[in-house]
Amino acid sequence: MAIYARTLTARGYRSYEDYELELADGITILVGRNAAGKTNLVEALQLLTSGQSFRRPAPRELLREGDERGLVRLTLEGEGRRIEHACELGGSRRAFVRNGKKTNASGVRGALPSVLFCPDDLDMVKRSASVRRRALDDFGVQLNARYAALVSAYERVVEQRNNLLKERALDPSLLAAWDEALVANGAALMQHRAALLRRVASHAARAYEGIAPHERMAIAYEPSIFSVPAGALDPPGVTPDLADRAAVEELFRTRLAELADDERRRGLTLVGPHRDEIAFTIDGRPARQYASQGQQRSLVLAWKIAEVAVTRDILGYAPLLLLDDVMSELDEQRRAAILLFIEGEVQTVITTTNLGYFNDDLLSRTKVVHIGEAR
Ligand SMILES: Nc1ncnc2c1ncn2[C@@H]1O[C@H](COP(=O)(O)OP(=O)(O)OP(=O)(O)O)[C@@H](O)[C@H]1O
Ligand SMILES: [Mg+2]
Repeated sequence: MAIYARTLTARGYRSYEDYELELADGITILVGRNAAGKTNLVEALQLLTSGQSFRRPAPRELLREGDERGLVRLTLEGEGRRIEHACELGGSRRAFVRNGKKTNASGVRGALPSVLFCPDDLDMVKRSASVRRRALDDFGVQLNARYAALVSAYERVVEQRNNLLKERALDPSLLAAWDEALVANGAALMQHRAALLRRVASHAARAYEGIAPHERMAIAYEPSIFSVPAGALDPPGVTPDLADRAAVEELFRTRLAELADDERRRGLTLVGPHRDEIAFTIDGRPARQYASQGQQRSLVLAWKIAEVAVTRDILGYAPLLLLDDVMSELDEQRRAAILLFIEGEVQTVITTTNLGYFNDDLLSRTKVVHIGEAR
């Protein structure tokens, strides 16, 4: 059993006046020159399955230049159901629609999650911790409505608390109330992250072994309440035990008390999930400092494969896998690793400027769509 994305319609969206794309159940390859509109289609697929786009566009950017309204629509089919997700674009607004009814981003999440792998992800191991937190959270919000609610609630609390900390005359009882909101939401979010990361990490370790059999990789969640500054956790590379919610909250309160003067001076919340680290290690060494380019790519590839596997564990079917322009960035062996994995029945959309990255055997079992020729 599975759910498949069937037909994508793009009207007055980005570079598309009116376009329809039929997806195969297996692999669909979108081939076309630079700026042909391949990533635009991938973005629409992501938007209509996850409720957000990796480019984080303002609604106006999604609307085709010069048009007043636009629409992207995706039909999904499977498990005896037919679902229609759409996003209506008009001026500076966008509105999600599910089966004809207005909804919000959460209304199009969960039916068929998507996993995107694009060139931006390739250096996620070395970039700032916020990139890795976002990778985990963007995945989590697709799988679990509670995770999604916690992410947005926590973000709001941090913003409000920061505003309060910047006020000249600070009301201590008001701050205490925000502290409690921070601690309650933050502790719950940390627990959700730890649980999800544990699943991702175990699949990723297995996938990495397939790519680099002589190395051991691990991923640990390092909450900043355990290590100020983030990343200074001892021992490194081990996710601390977060099972005891009361203990986590107590530690969080202690950190806030220690940092109270600093926070007041800087007008910033200095500890909590928005400062946490997700650390990759290879053979016990921090990948952020030590991993080679190739190792970093293998780590990211393993992470993406793990997202697919975790989705399958949780929902019982694979997500939609979107590989935007990454084939050219991977060498032969890593390309083979991902293609081998996909053959395990994952509906996949691959974009490329060059079909030369795919062998004839694969191409014979793949739907190839030329983009940018008749738009
Ligand atoms: N709102 C919009 N209105 C009109 N055109 C747009 C809009 N947004 C993006 N475009 C155009 O879409 C094109 C880019 O499309 P896209 O990023 O999908 O290309 P691509 O095929 O992925 O290219 P590459 O191979 O270089 O990654 C650009 O020419 C850009 O100007
Ligand atoms: Mg592109």
